[in-house]
Amino acid sequence: MKHNIRFARILVAAAVLGLGLLVAMQASAKTISAEDWAERLKPAGELCLQGMDCGGVAAPVVVGPKSADQVYNSVCMACHDTGAAGAPKRGDAAAWAPRITQGMATLYDHSLTGIRGMPAKGGNPNLSDDEVKSAVDYIVEASR
Ligand code: HEC
Repeated sequence: MKHNIRFARILVAAAVLGLGLLVAMQASAKTISAEDWAERLKPAGELCLQGMDCGGVAAPVVVGPKSADQVYNSVCMACHDTGAAGAPKRGDAAAWAPRITQGMATLYDHSLTGIRGMPAKGGNPNLSDDEVKSAVDYIVEASR
């Protein structure tokens, strides 16, 4: 009886060892790339990882906040380059002097919430507060 139990234990130990070896061998035989995974998972739905080319549409790369000149050139310049709607032009020190004396806090506030012909956030609510403020700095720096 005792003998049988010991034998069974050896058998189990050998089986576990063998299985472990097999798994280890398989794992080292093939390292799986992101593309392989995507291919294998395809039936479960399209998997598009960052940086992969997914049917011509590149996966979106997460971008950080827009820089001040990017914000200015994509939104603010429409009025502040041309003077449209009576906007004070960037670089026009005479037009900006009385506005700058209000203090930056007021300029930020008016840019975020809007004032008269100046729409809130220049009309682009997708801009973060910090992006708008950096664009104000950008305009003011060039207009002193
Ligand atoms: C649709 C046109 C338009 C766009 C776009 C626009 N502005 Fe203006 N902005 C104006 C006008 C008009 C004024 C003058 C408002 C007034 O005082 O009557 C103004 C005034 C300002 C002022 C001065 C506010 C004050 O208190 O004197 C700041 C600062 C300013 N804009 C920043 C920005 C920034 C930053 C952007 C881009 C994110 C932007 N503007 C986009 C039209 C625009």
